[in-house]
Amino acid sequence: MPAVQECCGAVGPREGEPERESERQTGVQVRSAGGHEEERFEGAVLVRKSEKCCVSLCQIVAHRAELPANAHGNGLPASPVLSAPRIGLVGAGRSKNGLGPFLAAACEAAGARVVGVSGRNPARAVEAAEQLVGRLQHAVAAYSSARLLAQHVDALVIASPAEAHAEGLVAALATGVPCLCEKPLVPVDRTADGLALCEAFRRRGILLAENCQWPQVLPALWQLHPGLQERPVQTVAMGLGPSQAGRAMIEDSISHVLSVVQALVPFGMDTAVAGVRQTDAGERAEQNVVTFRMVEGAREVAVELHLRRCPVQPRPAWLAVNGARIDRRIGPNYEQSFVAANESVPVSDPLHQLVYAFVAHLTPRNRERSPATVASPALHELIAVRLRCQEAIFRGLERGSREFGAGGG
Ligand SMILES: NC(=O)c1ccc[n+]([C@@H]2O[C@H](COP(=O)([O-])OP(=O)(O)OC[C@H]3O[C@@H](n4cnc5c(N)ncnc54)[C@H](OP(=O)(O)O)[C@@H]3O)[C@@H](O)[C@H]2O)c1
Repeated sequence: MPAVQECCGAVGPREGEPERESERQTGVQVRSAGGHEEERFEGAVLVRKSEKCCVSLCQIVAHRAELPANAHGNGLPASPVLSAPRIGLVGAGRSKNGLGPFLAAACEAAGARVVGVSGRNPARAVEAAEQLVGRLQHAVAAYSSARLLAQHVDALVIASPAEAHAEGLVAALATGVPCLCEKPLVPVDRTADGLALCEAFRRRGILLAENCQWPQVLPALWQLHPGLQERPVQTVAMGLGPSQAGRAMIEDSISHVLSVVQALVPFGMDTAVAGVRQTDAGERAEQNVVTFRMVEGAREVAVELHLRRCPVQPRPAWLAVNGARIDRRIGPNYEQSFVAANESVPVSDPLHQLVYAFVAHLTPRNRERSPATVASPALHELIAVRLRCQEAIFRGLERGSREFGAGGG
């Protein structure tokens, strides 16, 4: 049974530790390490008591009133035997722009149950779990690592910062559970790792999806511009308002526009990216337009990504295909609609739509932890193509900066 070895961060299995008598009776393990003691139930950190721990915690992360007591009569919740798919959320909070709380709500709305979280360290995981308990009104366990979390759920949703995605992806792979990962799958300088992970998911037949939700709004585009769908796609433009400036602004947004292009034109692994330009290569650029062409055989699409830094909500978002544009409007309770000319079409939250589709894939067969449970090569290929195009775009931008100097391109 894994045990936390140190107070903050380093975790791993401790071999040969004797089981206590009380553990056999209650299913709760008590471990002492690094000057603190911690109680776990089915691997989850339920209570942490510490004198030396840099973050002093003594918390029970469970909404016990709602859960039936277990057979031991010790007041602890019964092991959840749920028919709803059990979701583990890696990076469940929102320190900057993380969508953890929204992804949790979307999972629950789709009929799944967020039963556990992990975070940058055990203490932060406990805090995030507590916040979710308040929102979801049921027990949420805090696990000390993504790996441990993955062992107790049917699927992982990774909402941590991009630099931490690989850890969650490796945990999902190691455990054999389907995974929905925030975009970008990995930061651009880790493209090779991302491609290898993607390939490992494909080889093992484990579902992997990336949270690129904008293709879900394309039906609104077709509705607001009748006839557009019948014509070949020549140009795709998208406008977004990320919170950061400069290169980070592009890194944050590029997978979105790529995913929209992919939903319109079936670009494959031989896709080349050409003619990459930007209007402002400055490190602190508040506005930028990145343009490039995607080419594969006879297919060619000219792409524009218009970015304007926007630190607060509501952020602008628009989409145009062959020059026909729709703009997002956000109403009370974050209700979304898209407008063109004087017409408006309501759109159910694209994030919810995407999560719904992911949860729908978590059929009992797909939840089995055995090789080759889910065959979804198309999804894996979409992600791999995005990773390669993303890398090519950044290479093109760097070349442009070297050739023309900052501010040019
Ligand atoms: N699809 C979209 O439209 C959309 C929109 C916004 C963001 N995103 C994506 O969401 C992801 C997170 O955004 P962000 O970077 O702004 O996140 P963030 O808000 O800084 O953090 C999100 C959560 O991850 C936790 N976390 C931080 N480091 C971690 C680690 N090493 N391991 C596990 N959890 C960790 C944070 O905990 P602490 O509080 O301890 O830091 C927090 O709970 C990014 O990939 C971003 O691109 C997507």
